[in-house]
Amino acid sequence: AGNVHHLFIVLGASGDLAKKKTYPTLWWLFRDGLLPDDTLFFGYARSPLTVPELKHRCHSYMKVRDGEENRYEEFWKLNYYIQGSYSVRKDFELMNQELNSHEPSAGANRVFYLALPPSVFESVTTNLRNTCMSIKGWTRIIVEKPFGRDASSSKQLSDHLASLFKEDQIFRIDHYLGKEMVQNLMILRFGNRIFSPTWNRQYIASVQITFKEPFGTEGRGGYFDQFGIIRDVMQNHLLQILSLVAMEKPASVHPDDIRNEKVKVLKCIKPVTLENVVLGQYIGNPSGEGEATEGYLDDPTVPKDSNTPTYCTAVLYINNERWDEVPFILRCGKALNERKAEIRIQYNDVPGDIFEGKIKRNELVIRVQPGEAVYIKMMTKTPGMTFDMEETELDLTYGSRYKNVKLPDAYERLILDVFCGSQMHFVRSDELSEAWRIFTPLLHQIEVEQILPLPYVYGSRGPPEGDEISKRSNFKYYGSYKWIGPQH
Ligand code: BG6
Repeated sequence: AGNVHHLFIVLGASGDLAKKKTYPTLWWLFRDGLLPDDTLFFGYARSPLTVPELKHRCHSYMKVRDGEENRYEEFWKLNYYIQGSYSVRKDFELMNQELNSHEPSAGANRVFYLALPPSVFESVTTNLRNTCMSIKGWTRIIVEKPFGRDASSSKQLSDHLASLFKEDQIFRIDHYLGKEMVQNLMILRFGNRIFSPTWNRQYIASVQITFKEPFGTEGRGGYFDQFGIIRDVMQNHLLQILSLVAMEKPASVHPDDIRNEKVKVLKCIKPVTLENVVLGQYIGNPSGEGEATEGYLDDPTVPKDSNTPTYCTAVLYINNERWDEVPFILRCGKALNERKAEIRIQYNDVPGDIFEGKIKRNELVIRVQPGEAVYIKMMTKTPGMTFDMEETELDLTYGSRYKNVKLPDAYERLILDVFCGSQMHFVRSDELSEAWRIFTPLLHQIEVEQILPLPYVYGSRGPPEGDEISKRSNFKYYGSYKWIGPQH
């Protein structure tokens, strides 16, 4: 007898995601003693690989520190590799035999992590359902985007999964839901009396949610060109953040109460229309260095006439009593001037101004990365013998306030949640379908009408039209003040 064990199976173990994210995450969780003691790891893929070869592939991403070498070897001793196809049932039966041979008589819980291309997704899940389900324990499936390309392909996938597994067995990853500041939104909003009375159209002028990266497609052009920035970042990461910023207070912190509210607020959003969107595609910067000289179309894996956007600003409106007419400005892009993800809640102008137009709007800024912080931009009297005024901030910068706290990687939290069976930070199928409903008409229009993105230079702020649409959407940018992050 004995206790039920845990088997973690990485399908697509030879691929990019597995070596860059999945194995490193498993190692860090193991290193820190966060996984059940009896967990074994299995890689599955088509390539003929051995565990030492797998280890070699992953090694540069594992970040092994001095003194951890023994623990690291222990981790790899718990690893196995199984070669097999993604389509042949027999191969999955063989995998099942192998898994069984490692189970105690009490059985084992099984987590299947699908780091796979969409083309094999349906056959793999069908084979898993037919041959590899745990008999005595539970079985959970972790899936990664892309969850389809539009509303109908995503529905097909969801229906397929629903025919095989129950919703509480399916863990759809949106790794932004594993980030500290995204998780903090619930506490900031519903754990503080100070914000909730003003969290509405009466006080808030606009909400801007930004994702910027300072590099281009970096060899992922082949994948990226099929999807574009709207599917890659906006429809998932930014819309998830939006729903947490805008939803009503859930009845409890139960995952389904929270997800019910997220779905409800998404239902109030009409599909985005082209007139509320600015699209961009980066071009090389002739005076830049290295990769910066290359535009998106210079990537050999991208078709020369591709109109795939690498930048997008889109303005969404939520048609409910709290948010009617408040612009939610979503901005994201690759090859921009900096790396930054943040949420900026901009308050209305102070009515009845007595300071001759000197007052600038308040902003609550939640900085997701890098340098996690929450700060409120506000006006203060300029200190000293003067009655002038200036902008400053009430600042909660994690790097200085919580010096010795190590924030775990998003994937560490999420994979641990799967072991615990907590779906709070995972995307439910009805949420996903609402997200696609909002973006599908726009995505189809871009494809059918061959809408051309505006060019912007690698390393810039994106097309100036992006800033203009923010301005028109009641977001005021003063440029008079810059927040200085933690100085390490
Ligand atoms: C992924 C996108 O989901 O998120 C990538 O596919 C993007 O294009 C990445 O680079 C950004 O994640 P993070 O955690 O580095 O902000």
